[in-house]
Amino acid sequence: MALPVIVDCDPGHDDMVALLLAGRHADLLAVTTVAGNAPLERSTYNALLAIQLFNFTAHVHPGADRPLTAKSGFATGLHGASGLDGPVLPPLHLSPSPRSAVEAILETTRQVDGCWLIGTGPLTNIALSLRADPTLLDRIAGISIMGGGLSFGNVTAGAEFNLWVDPEAAAIVIHSGAPLIISPLDVTHQLMVTPRFADQVRALDSSIASFMADLFRVFAERYRDVFFDEAIGPLHDPCAVLAVTHPELFEFREMAITVVTGHGPGRGLMLADRRASKLDEPINAKVAVRIDADAALDLVLRAIESIP
Ligand code: RIB
Ligand code: CA
Repeated sequence: MALPVIVDCDPGHDDMVALLLAGRHADLLAVTTVAGNAPLERSTYNALLAIQLFNFTAHVHPGADRPLTAKSGFATGLHGASGLDGPVLPPLHLSPSPRSAVEAILETTRQVDGCWLIGTGPLTNIALSLRADPTLLDRIAGISIMGGGLSFGNVTAGAEFNLWVDPEAAAIVIHSGAPLIISPLDVTHQLMVTPRFADQVRALDSSIASFMADLFRVFAERYRDVFFDEAIGPLHDPCAVLAVTHPELFEFREMAITVVTGHGPGRGLMLADRRASKLDEPINAKVAVRIDADAALDLVLRAIESIP
Protein backbone atom coordinates (compact mmCIF):
# COMPACT_ATOMS: atom_id res chain seq x y z
CA MET A 1 0.00 0.00 0.00
CA ALA A 2 1.54 3.29 -1.11
CA LEU A 3 2.24 5.77 1.67
CA PRO A 4 0.06 8.93 1.58
CA VAL A 5 2.21 12.02 1.04
CA ILE A 6 1.88 15.76 0.49
CA VAL A 7 4.86 17.39 -1.25
CA ASP A 8 5.55 21.03 -0.42
CA CYS A 9 8.00 22.31 -3.01
CA ASP A 10 9.57 25.14 -4.99
CA PRO A 11 10.21 23.62 -8.46
CA GLY A 12 13.16 23.85 -9.35
CA HIS A 13 14.84 21.11 -11.32
CA ASP A 14 15.36 18.72 -8.42
CA ASP A 15 11.87 19.35 -7.04
CA MET A 16 10.50 18.06 -10.38
CA VAL A 17 12.31 14.77 -9.83
CA ALA A 18 11.02 14.64 -6.26
CA LEU A 19 7.46 15.07 -7.55
CA LEU A 20 8.02 12.35 -10.16
CA LEU A 21 9.24 9.88 -7.52
CA ALA A 22 6.45 10.84 -5.08
CA GLY A 23 3.81 10.26 -7.74
CA ARG A 24 5.37 6.99 -8.78
CA HIS A 25 6.20 5.45 -5.40
CA ALA A 26 3.74 7.05 -2.98
CA ASP A 27 0.09 8.14 -2.90
CA LEU A 28 0.61 11.79 -3.85
CA LEU A 29 -2.48 13.40 -2.28
CA ALA A 30 -1.61 17.07 -2.83
CA VAL A 31 1.18 19.38 -3.93
CA THR A 32 1.73 22.71 -2.19
CA THR A 33 4.06 25.40 -3.47
CA VAL A 34 6.28 28.00 -1.86
CA ALA A 35 8.59 30.75 -3.12
CA GLY A 36 12.17 29.56 -3.16
CA ASN A 37 14.11 28.61 -6.28
CA ALA A 38 11.83 31.03 -8.06
CA PRO A 39 8.94 33.32 -7.06
CA LEU A 40 5.69 31.63 -6.01
CA GLU A 41 4.00 32.15 -9.38
CA ARG A 42 6.82 30.26 -11.08
CA SER A 43 7.09 27.46 -8.55
CA THR A 44 3.32 26.99 -8.80
CA TYR A 45 3.41 27.04 -12.62
CA ASN A 46 6.23 24.49 -12.60
CA ALA A 47 4.47 22.20 -10.11
CA LEU A 48 1.38 22.26 -12.34
CA LEU A 49 3.60 21.43 -15.32
CA ALA A 50 4.96 18.42 -13.42
CA ILE A 51 1.44 17.15 -12.70
CA GLN A 52 0.52 17.63 -16.36
CA LEU A 53 3.65 16.03 -17.82
CA PHE A 54 3.68 13.10 -15.39
CA ASN A 55 -0.09 12.50 -15.77
CA PHE A 56 -0.67 12.75 -12.01
CA THR A 57 -3.99 13.76 -10.46
CA ALA A 58 -2.94 15.69 -7.33
CA HIS A 59 -4.06 19.32 -7.14
CA VAL A 60 -1.53 22.13 -6.71
CA HIS A 61 -2.12 24.63 -3.89
CA PRO A 62 -0.14 27.88 -3.85
CA GLY A 63 1.30 28.89 -0.48
CA ALA A 64 3.70 31.47 0.88
CA ASP A 65 5.24 33.98 -1.48
CA ARG A 66 7.78 35.06 1.12
CA PRO A 67 9.44 33.74 4.30
CA LEU A 68 7.99 34.38 7.77
CA THR A 69 10.26 37.24 8.68
CA ALA A 70 12.29 38.41 5.72
CA LYS A 71 12.19 39.23 2.05
CA SER A 72 12.52 36.34 -0.37
CA GLY A 73 15.81 35.13 -1.74
CA PHE A 74 15.52 33.20 -5.00
CA ALA A 75 17.96 30.69 -6.53
CA THR A 76 17.45 31.88 -10.10
CA GLY A 77 21.22 31.70 -10.61
CA LEU A 78 20.89 27.93 -10.68
CA HIS A 79 17.36 27.32 -11.87
CA GLY A 80 16.84 30.40 -14.05
CA ALA A 81 14.05 32.97 -14.05
CA SER A 82 11.59 30.24 -15.11
CA GLY A 83 12.80 27.97 -12.31
CA LEU A 84 13.17 25.24 -14.95
CA ASP A 85 15.81 26.43 -17.39
CA GLY A 86 16.76 23.86 -20.03
CA PRO A 87 13.83 22.32 -21.85
CA VAL A 88 11.28 24.24 -23.89
CA LEU A 89 8.35 24.41 -21.47
CA PRO A 90 5.15 23.13 -23.12
CA PRO A 91 1.86 25.06 -22.79
CA LEU A 92 0.22 24.52 -19.41
CA HIS A 93 -3.39 23.32 -19.38
CA LEU A 94 -3.87 23.12 -15.59
CA SER A 95 -4.76 25.80 -13.03
CA PRO A 96 -3.89 26.01 -9.35
CA SER A 97 -6.47 25.04 -6.77
CA PRO A 98 -8.38 27.88 -5.07
CA ARG A 99 -7.48 26.22 -1.75
CA SER A 100 -4.26 27.55 -0.23
CA ALA A 101 -1.32 25.39 0.79
CA VAL A 102 -2.19 25.60 4.48
CA GLU A 103 -5.86 24.77 3.82
CA ALA A 104 -4.82 21.80 1.68
CA ILE A 105 -2.34 20.47 4.26
CA LEU A 106 -4.83 20.78 7.14
CA GLU A 107 -7.85 19.43 5.24
CA THR A 108 -6.04 16.59 3.48
CA THR A 109 -4.49 15.36 6.74
CA ARG A 110 -7.94 15.46 8.37
CA GLN A 111 -9.27 13.22 5.58
CA VAL A 112 -6.29 10.84 5.34
CA ASP A 113 -4.54 9.70 8.52
CA GLY A 114 -0.84 8.92 8.60
CA CYS A 115 0.25 11.27 5.84
CA TRP A 116 3.92 12.21 5.35
CA LEU A 117 4.64 15.91 4.75
CA ILE A 118 7.63 16.12 2.42
CA GLY A 119 9.28 19.55 2.29
CA THR A 120 11.66 20.24 -0.59
CA GLY A 121 11.74 24.03 -0.39
CA PRO A 122 11.70 26.69 2.33
CA LEU A 123 9.47 25.39 5.15
CA THR A 124 7.15 28.40 5.42
CA ASN A 125 3.95 26.51 4.45
CA ILE A 126 4.57 23.61 6.81
CA ALA A 127 5.41 25.99 9.66
CA LEU A 128 2.26 28.05 9.04
CA SER A 129 0.20 24.84 9.00
CA LEU A 130 1.65 23.73 12.34
CA ARG A 131 0.94 27.20 13.79
CA ALA A 132 -2.63 27.23 12.44
CA ASP A 133 -3.50 23.80 13.83
CA PRO A 134 -1.09 22.16 16.32
CA THR A 135 -3.22 18.98 16.19
CA LEU A 136 -1.69 18.47 12.73
CA LEU A 137 1.11 16.75 14.65
CA ASP A 138 -1.31 14.05 15.84
CA ARG A 139 -2.50 13.22 12.33
CA ILE A 140 0.70 12.91 10.31
CA ALA A 141 3.18 10.04 10.14
CA GLY A 142 6.05 12.53 10.03
CA ILE A 143 7.88 15.25 8.13
CA SER A 144 10.71 14.56 5.70
CA ILE A 145 12.71 17.57 4.51
CA MET A 146 15.60 18.33 2.24
CA GLY A 147 17.58 20.95 4.11
CA GLY A 148 20.64 21.94 6.03
CA GLY A 149 24.25 20.90 5.84
CA LEU A 150 26.21 19.07 8.57
CA SER A 151 29.58 20.03 7.19
CA PHE A 152 29.00 22.65 4.47
CA GLY A 153 26.44 25.04 3.02
CA ASN A 154 25.54 26.28 -0.45
CA VAL A 155 24.18 29.79 0.15
CA THR A 156 26.78 30.67 2.75
CA ALA A 157 29.75 28.67 3.99
CA GLY A 158 27.49 26.78 6.36
CA ALA A 159 23.86 27.49 5.46
CA GLU A 160 21.80 25.53 2.94
CA PHE A 161 19.24 27.39 0.78
CA ASN A 162 15.94 25.98 2.12
CA LEU A 163 16.86 26.66 5.74
CA TRP A 164 18.59 29.97 4.92
CA VAL A 165 15.53 31.41 3.15
CA ASP A 166 13.29 30.80 6.16
CA PRO A 167 15.15 29.66 9.28
CA GLU A 168 12.28 30.77 11.53
CA ALA A 169 9.96 28.38 9.70
CA ALA A 170 12.62 25.66 9.79
CA ALA A 171 12.95 26.10 13.57
CA ILE A 172 9.18 25.66 14.02
CA VAL A 173 9.27 22.45 11.98
CA ILE A 174 12.48 21.04 13.50
CA HIS A 175 11.30 21.64 17.07
CA SER A 176 7.65 20.67 16.41
CA GLY A 177 8.00 17.21 17.93
CA ALA A 178 6.97 15.55 14.67
CA PRO A 179 8.88 12.43 13.58
CA LEU A 180 11.46 14.19 11.41
CA ILE A 181 13.75 12.98 8.64
CA ILE A 182 16.36 15.41 7.32
CA SER A 183 18.31 14.95 4.07
CA PRO A 184 21.13 17.51 4.27
CA LEU A 185 23.63 18.48 1.59
CA ASP A 186 26.01 15.85 2.99
CA VAL A 187 23.77 13.13 1.58
CA THR A 188 22.27 14.94 -1.42
CA HIS A 189 25.75 15.57 -2.82
CA GLN A 190 26.18 11.80 -3.01
CA LEU A 191 23.33 11.68 -5.56
CA MET A 192 24.79 13.42 -8.59
CA VAL A 193 23.36 13.67 -12.10
CA THR A 194 25.95 13.87 -14.87
CA PRO A 195 25.80 14.46 -18.62
CA ARG A 196 26.22 10.66 -18.96
CA PHE A 197 23.11 10.11 -16.85
CA ALA A 198 21.30 12.74 -18.92
CA ASP A 199 22.26 10.77 -22.03
CA GLN A 200 20.95 7.54 -20.45
CA VAL A 201 17.66 9.34 -19.81
CA ARG A 202 17.53 10.74 -23.33
CA ALA A 203 18.10 7.24 -24.73
CA LEU A 204 14.70 6.25 -23.25
CA ASP A 205 13.47 8.03 -26.38
CA SER A 206 10.21 9.65 -25.23
CA SER A 207 9.12 13.26 -25.04
CA ILE A 208 9.23 13.21 -21.23
CA ALA A 209 12.68 11.59 -21.34
CA SER A 210 13.91 14.38 -23.60
CA PHE A 211 12.36 16.98 -21.25
CA MET A 212 14.00 15.45 -18.19
CA ALA A 213 17.34 14.98 -19.98
CA ASP A 214 17.35 18.69 -20.82
CA LEU A 215 16.58 19.50 -17.18
CA PHE A 216 19.45 17.28 -15.99
CA ARG A 217 21.89 18.69 -18.56
CA VAL A 218 21.26 22.33 -17.62
CA PHE A 219 21.13 21.51 -13.90
CA ALA A 220 24.57 19.87 -14.09
CA GLU A 221 25.99 22.68 -16.25
CA ARG A 222 24.72 25.36 -13.86
CA TYR A 223 26.33 23.56 -10.92
CA ARG A 224 29.59 23.48 -12.93
CA ASP A 225 29.29 27.21 -13.53
CA VAL A 226 28.42 28.08 -9.93
CA PHE A 227 30.04 25.42 -7.72
CA PHE A 228 32.06 22.63 -9.26
CA ASP A 229 34.82 22.05 -11.81
CA GLU A 230 32.67 19.61 -13.75
CA ALA A 231 29.05 19.32 -14.84
CA ILE A 232 27.55 17.37 -11.94
CA GLY A 233 24.26 18.30 -10.27
CA PRO A 234 23.24 17.08 -6.78
CA LEU A 235 19.69 15.67 -6.80
CA HIS A 236 18.76 17.23 -3.47
CA ASP A 237 14.98 16.92 -3.24
CA PRO A 238 14.52 13.32 -4.38
CA CYS A 239 16.37 12.32 -1.20
CA ALA A 240 13.52 13.70 0.93
CA VAL A 241 11.03 11.52 -0.98
CA LEU A 242 13.16 8.36 -1.16
CA ALA A 243 13.95 8.60 2.57
CA VAL A 244 10.21 7.91 3.07
CA THR A 245 9.48 5.54 0.18
CA HIS A 246 12.82 3.67 0.09
CA PRO A 247 14.50 4.04 3.53
CA GLU A 248 16.54 0.91 2.82
CA LEU A 249 18.66 3.00 0.42
CA PHE A 250 19.90 5.20 3.27
CA GLU A 251 22.00 5.21 6.39
CA PHE A 252 20.47 7.45 9.08
CA ARG A 253 21.88 8.88 12.31
CA GLU A 254 19.69 10.17 15.13
CA MET A 255 20.76 13.68 16.10
CA ALA A 256 19.74 16.69 18.14
CA ILE A 257 19.28 19.31 15.43
CA THR A 258 18.68 23.03 15.66
CA VAL A 259 18.85 25.93 13.20
CA VAL A 260 20.20 29.45 13.62
CA THR A 261 17.48 32.06 13.08
CA GLY A 262 17.72 35.83 12.66
CA HIS A 263 19.60 37.91 10.12
CA GLY A 264 23.18 37.55 11.28
CA PRO A 265 26.06 35.77 9.54
CA GLY A 266 24.92 32.45 10.99
CA ARG A 267 21.43 32.68 9.45
CA GLY A 268 20.15 29.27 8.39
CA LEU A 269 23.03 27.26 9.86
CA MET A 270 21.91 23.76 10.88
CA LEU A 271 23.66 22.60 14.04
CA ALA A 272 23.88 18.94 15.05
CA ASP A 273 24.61 18.61 18.76
CA ARG A 274 26.71 15.45 18.97
CA ARG A 275 28.18 15.94 22.40
CA ALA A 276 28.48 12.64 24.20
CA SER A 277 27.11 14.17 27.42
CA LYS A 278 23.41 14.12 28.28
CA LEU A 279 21.94 16.63 25.92
CA ASP A 280 19.76 19.53 26.92
CA GLU A 281 18.46 19.35 23.37
CA PRO A 282 16.62 16.02 22.84
CA ILE A 283 17.24 13.86 19.79
CA ASN A 284 14.71 15.27 17.31
CA ALA A 285 15.71 14.05 13.86
CA LYS A 286 16.79 11.08 11.80
CA VAL A 287 19.48 12.53 9.55
CA ALA A 288 20.35 10.78 6.28
CA VAL A 289 24.12 10.48 6.05
CA ARG A 290 24.52 7.97 3.21
CA ILE A 291 22.52 6.96 0.12
CA ASP A 292 22.87 4.13 -2.40
CA ALA A 293 23.19 6.56 -5.31
CA ASP A 294 23.22 3.93 -8.06
CA ALA A 295 19.95 2.42 -6.81
CA ALA A 296 18.40 5.87 -6.42
CA LEU A 297 19.40 6.93 -9.95
CA ASP A 298 17.96 3.69 -11.31
CA LEU A 299 14.64 4.53 -9.59
CA VAL A 300 14.73 7.94 -11.28
CA LEU A 301 15.44 6.37 -14.68
CA ARG A 302 12.65 3.80 -14.25
CA ALA A 303 10.21 6.48 -13.06
CA ILE A 304 10.89 8.50 -16.22
CA GLU A 305 10.56 5.34 -18.32
CA SER A 306 7.15 4.67 -16.73
CA ILE A 307 5.64 7.92 -18.01
CA PRO A 308 3.75 7.22 -21.27
O1 RIB B 1 19.82 23.68 -1.22
C1 RIB B 1 19.12 22.85 -2.11
C2 RIB B 1 17.65 23.09 -2.01
O2 RIB B 1 17.35 24.43 -2.38
C3 RIB B 1 16.83 22.22 -2.97
O3 RIB B 1 15.57 21.98 -2.43
C4 RIB B 1 16.71 23.09 -4.19
O4 RIB B 1 15.57 22.75 -4.99
C5 RIB B 1 16.53 24.44 -3.56
O5 RIB B 1 15.17 24.56 -3.17
CA1 CA C 1 13.61 22.60 -3.75
